[in-house]
Amino acid sequence: MIGPPGAGKGTQAKLLHERFGVPHISTGDMLREAQRNGSLLGQEAKRYIAAGRLVPDDVVIGLVDVRLARPDAAPGFILDGFPRTVHQAEELDRMLARRGQRLRAAVSIVVPEDELVRRLAGRRVCRSCGAMAHVVFDPPATPGVCDRCGGELEQREDDREDTIRRRLEVYAQETAPVIDHYRRMSVLRETAGVGTPEEVFERVVASLG
Ligand code: AP5
Repeated sequence: MIGPPGAGKGTQAKLLHERFGVPHISTGDMLREAQRNGSLLGQEAKRYIAAGRLVPDDVVIGLVDVRLARPDAAPGFILDGFPRTVHQAEELDRMLARRGQRLRAAVSIVVPEDELVRRLAGRRVCRSCGAMAHVVFDPPATPGVCDRCGGELEQREDDREDTIRRRLEVYAQETAPVIDHYRRMSVLRETAGVGTPEEVFERVVASLG
């Protein structure tokens, strides 16, 4: 899944996981988990994430390489938020070739920038179970409390408006060129990301054939 911050990559990847049962591998989730565990990797990643910058390629490539080696990924997987640079995309091609696998589709989700900012600025995430809510589009029954588990809802540290703008700039500079990489490989599926999550999901599934 490729797309700018707030395009709905995580939302769609979760729905694909539920429908098709293949693992959802999110580098953003892996890095946030490392931060929560207080590991060295997490401490290093925190500086980059909080500033809206990309974590260095070698760190993220190593994480994905280890994750793809787990048995549940052998029949297939959904990558969310990786690759994010052309170098990561080339390394992923090499990783998959070593395993006799290949990328079948790169789903690019397209959403206008003002909508991205609205989605991210209002997003809240449960500290306990990771469920997402939105203060306007999907408000919790009790403000600040997760509908699913009763945990505390918080704003991601990189969802503040100045950091959102920085993430969008980084996307345009570093990640948008990855779309051309996949267009050249004839695996790109561009999908409009506006409408309800369910409407977008039906388009994503249709684009996958
Ligand atoms: P990551 O966690 O991957 O963040 P991101 O790419 O910025 O994406 P988001 O999670 O913000 O958005 P999303 O597209 O998944 O949308 P979502 O479904 O959540 O990465 C975070 C950081 O980690 C990076 O900035 C970087 O520092 C580092 N990192 C990660 N991977 C890296 C890599 N490969 N290399 C280097 N560094 C890396 O939806 C957003 C909101 O919109 C939610 O509130 C949701 O409910 C709502 N929403 C979703 N769909 C709809 C819809 N159709 N209509 C209305 N609202 C919707």
